[in-house]
This record gives sequence, C-alpha cells and structure tokens, in this order.
Amino acid sequence: MPASRLVNTCMTCGGPLLVDYDMDRVGGIVERSTWASRPPTMWRYRELLPLNDPAEAVSLGEPITPIVTLSELDRAPSNLLLLKDDGRLPLGSFKARGMAVAVSRARALGAKALFAPSAGNAGAALAAYAARAGLRSRVYLPAATSEPFRSWPAALGAETVLVDGTIREAGERARSECRGDGWFEMSTLREPYRVEGKKTMGFEMFDQLHGRSWPDAILYPTGGGTGLLGLAKAFDELTQLGWIERRPRLIAVQPDRCAPIVKALDEGTPRAAPWPNPSTVAPGLLVPSPFGSERVLEAIRLSGGAGVTVSDQAILDAMGELLRRHGVSASPEGAATYAGALELLERGTLRAGETVPLYNTGSGLPFDLAALRDLVPAGSPP
Ligand SMILES: Cc1ncc(COP(=O)(O)O)c(C=O)c1O
Repeated sequence: MPASRLVNTCMTCGGPLLVDYDMDRVGGIVERSTWASRPPTMWRYRELLPLNDPAEAVSLGEPITPIVTLSELDRAPSNLLLLKDDGRLPLGSFKARGMAVAVSRARALGAKALFAPSAGNAGAALAAYAARAGLRSRVYLPAATSEPFRSWPAALGAETVLVDGTIREAGERARSECRGDGWFEMSTLREPYRVEGKKTMGFEMFDQLHGRSWPDAILYPTGGGTGLLGLAKAFDELTQLGWIERRPRLIAVQPDRCAPIVKALDEGTPRAAPWPNPSTVAPGLLVPSPFGSERVLEAIRLSGGAGVTVSDQAILDAMGELLRRHGVSASPEGAATYAGALELLERGTLRAGETVPLYNTGSGLPFDLAALRDLVPAGSPP
C-alpha cells in the first residue's frame, strides 16, 4: 500500500496498517550519535517518522520526557525501578506523541476533519493538534467521562459527543455518524500513524538508557495497545539498525475487571475475546474489545513478555504511594504499572538485579483521588 494515500485499515483483511521504512537507507544516513545531537524533542527521530519534510510536523512542543529513579523501594533493593514520565507532554499524556504524528500526516495527505472515540486523553490530544493544524475535529466520549476530560475537547475547539457505554460504544457511534463529508477516523490502530508517534517512547529510552542501564523488562498500562506496539516497533527498528542487541520483555498491565489482553496471554489464544461487564478506575484501560489485539499479543509474545492484572484498590494505593514516596503525579493508568511491578516482584517474574522502567502514560493532575475511591465497589479485594 503506497504511503501517499490517506487510508485507515488494510483494504484486503481490514486489519491495522503499519509503516515500513527502507532500513538500509536509514542506516546509511543516521548514526547512533545523530539523534542525541539534535534538540531534545520527539522530532529528533525524523528519519524513522513518516514525514516527507520536517515542516509538515504539527507540534505543540513535545519534550523528551524524564526518567525518574524509584530507588528507595525497600521491597526490591537490588532492582533498578525507573519511571518514564509522559505526564509532562502537551495536555499531560503520551497521547500527544501519537496524535502529533497522525495529525501531521493526515493534514499532509489532505484530510480536513478528524474524529475519534476517546476515554479522555486521546480526545484532548486530538482536539489540541487538530486546532494547531487548522482542521475540524470531533470527539466521542463515554458519558461517564470525568472532568476535565469532558470539557477539554470543546475548550480546544472540537465538537464533543457523549455516548452511553464504554469506548467500544463510542467508537461504534462515531463510525456510524462520521461518514462522508471528508471525515477521517483517528481511532487506535484504525489509522497507520499514531503507532509511529508512540515509537518515540522506545527511541527516547534508547537515548536515555542504552549503554547505561538498558531495560530487561518494561511495564506498560495496556488499553488498545498502540503504545505497546509502538515500543515493540521501536525496538525492532533499533535491532535492524544494529544499535541494540537485546529487546526488553514487554509486560502488559491491565485492571482485573477489564483484562482481555492478559486473559488471552494466559490462555494462549491468538486474539482477545470481548470482556463482559468491564469496569475500572483507570479510564484509558477500559477497552473491552481491543481492535488489533492479534498484533499486540504477538508483540508481547515475541519479546518474551507477559501480562499482569491489578485491582482498582491497588491502582489507587499506587497513585498515593507514587506521590508520597517518589513525588510523582501518575494517572491511574500509569500507577497501575507500579502496582503491577509490586505483584511481579512478589511472583519472581521480575528477577533480582533487573532494570525495569514503568511507563507512566499520563499525569495524575486531572484526577480527583477521592472521587476515584468512590468508584471502587465496597468489599473489593486489595
Ligand atoms: C493515560 C493512558 N494510559 C494508557 C492508555 C492505553 O493506551 P494504549 O492504547 O496504548 O494501550 C490510555 C488510553 O486512553 C491512556 O489515556
């Protein structure tokens, strides 16, 4: 499929489309030191981003996000637990990475109006980057979406539609309403370029950790799985360039009341079955039927990775502990990785001496911890 056409999914099988680069050519024009010598933004990786011209980039100023050492964890004295903090990106989440690239590409290919269902962060990022690009946008949110995620898209100039149900129902409604009139869908894995932006998570880790403390495993809070696929693709491309010798194990963390990917890993099935009656305090992880689950599962398995579930109570405790002990404001999704790490250390899945970055995908600032506590059913397991 040529990259010059504005397309959503594969015309033959309907599955996700991923971008292929001429890696021999890329290897001929960049060296290990090239990226690190450029300004510290996600656009420094431009040879492996799908832009024909750097001027096509729609940017709100995306910094390289810091990696914080969670050193004083007495439960894991010999492990190096790190936290990559994407709460510092525009609108406070990693969704900025994918939307920056996907909106840039959509505009370059002639799109005029963009839409997506969202649990909150993707909607805010889509609205912000579409506004920056001068494009129309529309966001479909579950009706239970909390403030400020509910009002941000409109404040950023997007149309907002509230839909009863989860992101699955929001997506169905979006696809039924946004037909014709130049609407282009920006949902997770239903267009090829958000994954490309998410890849910069892995490239940044390469810049920040390679040669010093290269990860043995990475814990990632998994909803639709674009981030995990982005990490896997980054490590594939770095391997093809001959710049890394070992890929980290990718570990999907999901809430125990909505864990279709972890269940499929446990049961050894090729794709995730829809999760019945899903619920969780982490809105971005409330994805009961992830589109493209086959690719996500394959990426985890090829990395030698695994899955782990955590309770809502453990997620809230982790948010509190990250704040108190480490000074980190983590979203419930990001905090889920901390809860997952404690569980995996106990099980021995994370071995003594290993280096393990946790991926904090969003800031905790938009969340009211007391209101989240009210969402946990009484008598829930810790
Ligand atoms: C903060 C946060 N973390 C994680 C996720 C899940 O992302 P992915 O689609 O990459 O699995 C989301 C999705 O909405 C999110 O907002």
